[in-house]
Amino acid sequence: MKHLLTTDGLAEDAATAILDTADELKRTLLGREVKKLPTLRGRTVITMFYENSTRTRVSFEIAGKWMSADVVNVSAGGSSVGKGESLRDTALTLAAAGADCVIVRHPASGAAHRLAGWLSEGGTSVVNAGDGTHEHPTQALLDAATLRERLGALKDRRIAIVGDVLHSRVARSNVHLLATLGAEVVLVAPPTLLPVGVGSWPVTVSHDLDAELPALDAVMMLRVQAERMHGGFFPSAREYSIAYGLNEARLGLLPEGAVVLHPGPMLRGMEIGSAVADAPQSAITEQVRNGVHVRMAVLYHLLAGDGGERG
Ligand code: CP
Repeated sequence: MKHLLTTDGLAEDAATAILDTADELKRTLLGREVKKLPTLRGRTVITMFYENSTRTRVSFEIAGKWMSADVVNVSAGGSSVGKGESLRDTALTLAAAGADCVIVRHPASGAAHRLAGWLSEGGTSVVNAGDGTHEHPTQALLDAATLRERLGALKDRRIAIVGDVLHSRVARSNVHLLATLGAEVVLVAPPTLLPVGVGSWPVTVSHDLDAELPALDAVMMLRVQAERMHGGFFPSAREYSIAYGLNEARLGLLPEGAVVLHPGPMLRGMEIGSAVADAPQSAITEQVRNGVHVRMAVLYHLLAGDGGERG
């Protein structure tokens, strides 16, 4: 694997290999005071974030450092991007400076693919850390890792993705990956927050969360992405929360053992109740923890290959 840009077309064996490596890394590091492994010593990983992030940026940095890579963080604000340098020139500059891997988050859908095209001549790998409303593949992989831990194999598991699907790169990446892993995905959203092409996705669609909850193995709540909506949205925030928010009464409709996920950042009281976010069914903190191991696994598969050392 040279780049990780999307889960659309990511083969089941490639996805499973990343998830299995993440499991193995998690087991290897469990209880260790010093987390560092020598695997990526001498490799240089550059994170390049043109949009805000807490979880993704921090977990990639920790992942790189725990694998002994040299990690350099570039943000739009503190770099020559602020002087007008283009994405292409910035990417070529980072590659020339010695990047083995560039991890990019960008507000434009397709930015990571463009970057991979510009860097295709050299040896630099590109990881999509979220591009516009398009994809966020490592989020989907860490969600799958978390679901596998709680539920076992995902084949035939019924998983709802609820809320602002229209603007969600997390939803797109999860739909592809969960379908590849054999899960049944139901999108639950108001018609105004579903994309036009959803009819061609490998999902069913519902507008009734209460009707779906009793048959689910997991429910993944999405943040309402107000920053990508211009002039508000319909239904209103209050109506949305009443119809699609996961509150304590709705939590009670889920079968025993069902899992609640949220990619973060959460809007407590909007798409998810505060008590629900902290309930035993919630795997939200585990998602963040697994994000480090999954991103270590992605860096391993991109930069170390099957011949690298892991322990
Ligand atoms: N889930 C996610 O991408 O969170 P951040 O925006 O904090 O990275």
